Amino acid sequence: MKIAVFGSGRGSNFEALLRAKIPNADFSLVISNKKDARILELGSENGIKTKAFKSSEFSEENENIVLDFLLENGIELIVLAGFLRKISATIIQKYSNKIINIHPALLPSFGGIGMYGKYIHEAVLKSGTQFSGPTVHFVNENYDEGPIILQETVPVLFEDSTDDLAKRVLEVEHRIFAKALDLVINGKFEIKGKRVKFC
Ligand code: GAR
Repeated sequence: MKIAVFGSGRGSNFEALLRAKIPNADFSLVISNKKDARILELGSENGIKTKAFKSSEFSEENENIVLDFLLENGIELIVLAGFLRKISATIIQKYSNKIINIHPALLPSFGGIGMYGKYIHEAVLKSGTQFSGPTVHFVNENYDEGPIILQETVPVLFEDSTDDLAKRVLEVEHRIFAKALDLVINGKFEIKGKRVKFC
């Protein structure tokens, strides 16, 4: 399956996906909204075509620019690995249940616009919850609200800084993202409303 990975930063989740050697996962494109993002270098180092679009090219007005590029390259599945821009409605419709995202908290809590990176872990610590952990989900038109594929909890400790918590969650992200992608590519699943069942 031809996959485009979208990312805005260091790409440690993408690296974990590459390491996992998931059967039938053909990473064909790495796309970023930041031309100096480490994830683009990672793509190049692994012989994968890369492309940086301007942030404005991801906006609703210009949505065909990215969409056409995906279609020209025969992309069948989109993986958001630390991508910090909203995906346009047209792309979401065209790739219905074919876009997955990793989020470093237990959705549906701690999601939505503005909830990314350290802001999420800050909000988790502030809330007093005793558990956090990553969520892998399908992307739908409502930000961070698509059907949940996999989640796993980690404890939130009294002494935690945001960095401590981010690190603990990230270790689990790397594991469950690869597992979720494998399930989506190689498994059979059914989606009922927001619920996903793997058969
Ligand atoms: C990851 O923690 C990912 O869950 C988060 O960005 C980080 C990217 O790290 N994504 C979001 O916050 C999306 N809302 P990485 O570039 O090392 O994979």
